[in-house]
Amino acid sequence: MSGQTESGTEFQSIYGADALADFDPATQLGEPGKYPFTRGVYPTMYTQRPWTMRQYAGFGTATESNARYQELIANGTMGLSVAFDLPTQMGYDSDDAMAAGEVGKVGVAIDSIEDMKVLFDNIPLDKVSTSMTINAPAAVLLLLYQLVAEEQGISADQLTGTIQNDVLKEYIARGTYIFPPAPSLRLISDIFAYCKDEIPKWNTISISGYHMAEAGATPAQEIAFTLADGIAYVQAAIDAGLAVDDFAPRLSFFFVSRTTILEEVAKFRAARRIWAKIMTERFGAKNPKSQMLRFHTQTAGVQLTAQQPEVNMVRVAVQALAAALGGTQSLHTNSFDEAIALPTQKAARLALRTQQVIAYESDVTKTVDPFAGSYVVESLTDDVEAEAWKLINEIDDRGGAVRAIEQGFQKNEIEQSAYHYAQQVDTGDRVVVGVNRFTLDEEEHYDPLRLDPTIGEQQAQRLADLRANRDNAAVEAALEKIREAGRGSDNLLYPMKEALKAKATVGEVCNALRDVWGLYQPNDAF
Ligand code: 3HC
Repeated sequence: MSGQTESGTEFQSIYGADALADFDPATQLGEPGKYPFTRGVYPTMYTQRPWTMRQYAGFGTATESNARYQELIANGTMGLSVAFDLPTQMGYDSDDAMAAGEVGKVGVAIDSIEDMKVLFDNIPLDKVSTSMTINAPAAVLLLLYQLVAEEQGISADQLTGTIQNDVLKEYIARGTYIFPPAPSLRLISDIFAYCKDEIPKWNTISISGYHMAEAGATPAQEIAFTLADGIAYVQAAIDAGLAVDDFAPRLSFFFVSRTTILEEVAKFRAARRIWAKIMTERFGAKNPKSQMLRFHTQTAGVQLTAQQPEVNMVRVAVQALAAALGGTQSLHTNSFDEAIALPTQKAARLALRTQQVIAYESDVTKTVDPFAGSYVVESLTDDVEAEAWKLINEIDDRGGAVRAIEQGFQKNEIEQSAYHYAQQVDTGDRVVVGVNRFTLDEEEHYDPLRLDPTIGEQQAQRLADLRANRDNAAVEAALEKIREAGRGSDNLLYPMKEALKAKATVGEVCNALRDVWGLYQPNDAF
């Protein structure tokens, strides 16, 4: 019995030449580094340079997180990836009542330029590329990064990195939204325009399917909903007056990698092919860089188990292999203890070592797109592509991603998939090693990383010192300029940068925008 793919197509127990009867290598495959990029975005892929090993990390104070980054760099990580705590992600200062109990928990607490300076202390920002998982306040953290670089004597045109900046998926699956869709899209278009002029090598958005997948989306849903969000961002920027080839080369994507290797490889290849078609046929993009889907991958956290946590190391290795075989540009491998708590130092190092074994000991980096021409993978690539187009077309019929979100469409589809998955685990139709089969009577004791409980107080004290030692009238005047720009149509990032330079806090800048735009109210009718 073969069963179904995760996207719901019947697996054939044997794939032969007949599976590829309609397959046209010239149009569906092409050359690596050329339209439609099925075989990868670069002609030489990992034969020239492996993917960027980019471990997502950050917790507690900026000092603690800086130490973890130094450790990761010493161990061979090739790019940084900053995890912010929830208050920062929601645009609240650490001393805000809304932040109580959350400061420094799931990431680092950043309140002002003072924290940002500590976070990147002794890290040369012209040598490392940095990803920041920040969405509604993405502009604020990007500008703080630019200001820290300026203090290090590094000009903005040397900076490389990515802000997540993908608010639409926050409405669908992740939850750290602040403002309603229209002003959110306007802010995102302002970021595109600002980066084009000021920070040209910056990847301005990481359009993410990862969180939808963690919430239960199938591979086809994951790429369809993500690419539909991508369409909405491109359309919004064009509507704001930008030319597609001026901003599209710096769009990037973010997907999950599950243990189902074959379908995952097919998914990555299908996503590249679909995006290339969307950018050329729908938006008329001419620059090949606008047509290529470059993506970061994180191994599937949701597949990790608290039971027998060491088994997670095996899962992560399989998932990481799928990402490499699928041609990812950047990869985070989860730590085996992540289903229990924040990763310990040892577990974080092991996760990085997993990537290094695949990149430097295996032979998957020796040739480009090793699965090309495989009966099963080409066939699955077509299947996932067809399934994803159906969903993209349905979203178009509903009036686009934002309208579909307001109708609860994506969320509802994902919830149905999650329910189906949970049922399969409950009935044992889906095997989860150590959970519903091969269980232990007694789990071994595990000692998780514990956080300093005084982080909230420490951050509040730093904020009190900051407010006592800055020019508060200048800060208020700068915040008023943000409100003015928010009411009008001038690019917001210029007044935001001035305010942050005058030591306005993350919360104050976000509050200035809240004053003008209000908050998003989700429609949970579905
Ligand atoms: N031939 C020629 N050039 C090559 C090459 C090759 N084979 N391989 C790489 N290069 C070049 C590239 O062209 C690029 O140069 P350019 O910028 O001048 O074009 C340079 O080398 C760097 O390569 P990439 O751009 O491929 O790799 P990066 O690592 O710099 O960028 C990315 C990858 C996907 C485009 C980028 O957006 C990125 O780094 N994203 C990371 C996102 C991330 O880490 N997110 C974390 C999310 S965690 C989260 O959400 C939290 C929770 O809720 C789960």
